[in-house]
Amino acid sequence: MSQTFSAPKGVPDYLPPDSAGFVAVRDGLLTAARRAGYGDIELPIFEDTALFARGVGESTDVVSKEMYTFSDRGDRSVTLRPEGTAGVMRAVIEHGLDRGALPVKLCYAGPFFRYERPQAGRYRQLQQVGVEAIGVDDPALDAEVIAVADAGFRSLGLTGFRLEITSLGDDSCRPEYRKLLQDFLFALPLDEATRARAEINPLRVLDDKRPEVREMTADAPVMLDHLSAAARTHFDAVLAHLDALRVPYAINPRMVRGLDYYTKTTFEFVHDGLGAQSGIGGGGRYDGLMRQLGGQDLSGIGFGLGVDRTLLALRAEGVEPGPRSRVDVFGVPLGPDAKLALARVAADLRAAGVRVDLAYGDRGMKGAMRAADRSGAAIALVAGDREIAEGNIGLKLLATGEQVDVPLDAVVDEVARRVERRGTSCEELGG
Ligand code: HAM
Repeated sequence: MSQTFSAPKGVPDYLPPDSAGFVAVRDGLLTAARRAGYGDIELPIFEDTALFARGVGESTDVVSKEMYTFSDRGDRSVTLRPEGTAGVMRAVIEHGLDRGALPVKLCYAGPFFRYERPQAGRYRQLQQVGVEAIGVDDPALDAEVIAVADAGFRSLGLTGFRLEITSLGDDSCRPEYRKLLQDFLFALPLDEATRARAEINPLRVLDDKRPEVREMTADAPVMLDHLSAAARTHFDAVLAHLDALRVPYAINPRMVRGLDYYTKTTFEFVHDGLGAQSGIGGGGRYDGLMRQLGGQDLSGIGFGLGVDRTLLALRAEGVEPGPRSRVDVFGVPLGPDAKLALARVAADLRAAGVRVDLAYGDRGMKGAMRAADRSGAAIALVAGDREIAEGNIGLKLLATGEQVDVPLDAVVDEVARRVERRGTSCEELGG
C-alpha cells in the first residue's frame, strides 16, 4: 500500500459544508473593517526573522519558543509570520505610506503560524482578521478600532463575549512602574525561573497561571494605578468614547498580552464557551513600534481577531454562520439532449448570480434526485429528452415536491425570480 498523508499536527482543515462557516466569519469580520474605511493589505507569509525578533520582542513566548524559522536556499533566516502587525509596519515604512495622509488604515486576513501545543481552539496555523490604524494618537481612534471588532462579532450573531480593557501606560510612567513591580516581586519567595522572568519582563509574572503564584501576586501594583497624567487622560477619553458608542467593556488591570509592543490602550475579547482558549481577539496601541523598526516615531493601534476561535464560539452558541446550502438550484438531466440543455440553463443562471449545480455521471432519476436533496437546493430542474424536444423543463420545489412545467426559453427568468424572492442567492448569503 502506498503511503498516506495527514495534515501537519495542530493544523485544521476546513471542508464543505463546514468551510462555509469559516468563510462567513472571515468575510463578516473583514466587512466590518472595510465599512470603517480600512483598505486591504496583502502581505508575505514569511519575512526576515529579525523583523519579528525586533518587533514582537525577543523575550516573548511567540518569538523565543513558537516561531517557524528556517534558512532559505540563499541562507537567509526567514520566519513564517506569527502575527500581522510587524509585517504591516515593515510594509508601511518600506513603501512610505507613513508620508501620506494619516492615519493609514489597513485591514488583512490570513494564516499565521505559531508552534504552540495544539489543543481545542489552539492551532499551529491560525487565521486572523486584523486592522492597523497608524500615525494618529487620538483616543477616538482607539475606540473606533475596538468598536469595529465589537461590530464584526455582533454582525455574525455572536453575543456571549466580553471586552476587557486596560492601559499599559507610556514611556513616561512605564519604567517607574516596572521598577515598582520588580521591587514587589523580588520581595516574594519566587522560584529561580520566575525570578528570572521578573528580571526580564515582570508583567509576565502577573500572567502566571499557578495558584500559588497567583495568590502571592494578588496585591501586586498594577499599571492602571500608576499612569502618567497624559496616559490617564488618554485612557479616560477612550472609555468615554466607548460609552458614547455603546460598546460595553470591563476594566481588567491585570491583563497581560503575549506581545511586547503594546503601550497605553490594550484590550481583549473573551468568550466563555471555549474553555482554556477563551481569547477570540485582542489588540492595542503600539506607539514605539514604528521607530523600533527603523521608521518615524509614529503611533499605531490595531487588533487581531481569531477566525478559528470565533467560529468555535459561534458554534458554542448554537449559531452556524454562512449560507445553509451550497446551491439554490440543482439540475437533473435524464438523457443526452436534456444534459446539453440543462448545462446551458445552468450557465445562464450562474451568469445571473444564481448558484447552480448539476447531476453528473448519468446516474438515473433516483440517484440524481438524492444528489439534489443533499445539495440543499430549493429548486430542482428536471428534464428528459422528450420534455426538451417539447420545449419544457420541470421545475420542482424540493421542500414540498410541487412541480410545474416551465417553457425552456422562460426558465432562467422564472428561476432567477423565485430565488431572488427567497433571498437565497449567493450574493446575499455569502456576503
Ligand atoms: P494575539 O492576541 O497574539 O494578537 O492574537 C490575536 C488573536 O488570534 C487571539 O485573540 C486569538 O483569537 C487568535 N489566536 C492567537 N493564537 C492562536 C492559536 N494558536 N490558535 C488559534 N487562534 C489563535 C496579535 O496577533 C496582534 N498582532 C494583534 C494586534 C494587531 N495588535 C495590534 N494590532
